[in-house]
Amino acid sequence: PELPLLHREITAWYASNARQLPWREESATPWALMVSEFMLQQTPVVRVLPVWEAWMKRWPTPAALAADPVGEAVKAWGRLGYPRRALRLHAAALVITTEHGGKVPGSEDRLLALPGVGTYTAAAIACFAFGIPTVVVDTNIRRVHARLVGGKALPEPNQNAAELALAQRLLPESSPADATATKLANAWNIAVMELGALVCTARAPRCHGCPVMQQCAWIAVGRPEPHYKPKGQ
Ligand code: ADE
Repeated sequence: PELPLLHREITAWYASNARQLPWREESATPWALMVSEFMLQQTPVVRVLPVWEAWMKRWPTPAALAADPVGEAVKAWGRLGYPRRALRLHAAALVITTEHGGKVPGSEDRLLALPGVGTYTAAAIACFAFGIPTVVVDTNIRRVHARLVGGKALPEPNQNAAELALAQRLLPESSPADATATKLANAWNIAVMELGALVCTARAPRCHGCPVMQQCAWIAVGRPEPHYKPKGQ
């Protein structure tokens, strides 16, 4: 595919089609984004929104959360499911408070060292909250890549090295000296994620609404069905 074209089309699509979510606001803090990423790990946006709002009102900083008993965090987590995430978020808030002066760290290494933060979450926080152009790979992004470039209905059940290499190759090039290029690289990840969430969905994708339908390898081969039954569908 012609990369600069993909970059332009998908980021332009995001600019006019993305959902307005409170953790995407210019004014959102890294902590606000981090809380959203924990909640979004296994729960859809619509169910996360009210819990996130209440959480941020009550604990606007990591220090505020760390000062309260972990049981309060679990209670406030409510019906989001997988309450271990609340325990880990509380534990992460403690580490941030004691070891990082109360500020969510801005490097992927230090993010990865926090409780409950895996490869995806570290990359997402680094990219979305700190503007570090790094490779971000989640389920939505993997599916867009599989279709657009791989010509497959769905990615392999487990992420592999080739996928990561592809994600790296698709990421717009950037350098610290070039602010425009860095901005594009940054915008790319969230734009592809949103395309996967809203258009290039697992079931019944809305290809007619896709900005890169013309470039899509999956379309080119006639939209074959998945070669396996997706988990949890
Ligand atoms: N914005 C930033 N990260 C997100 C995510 N994981 N899901 C939806 N919107 C997001």
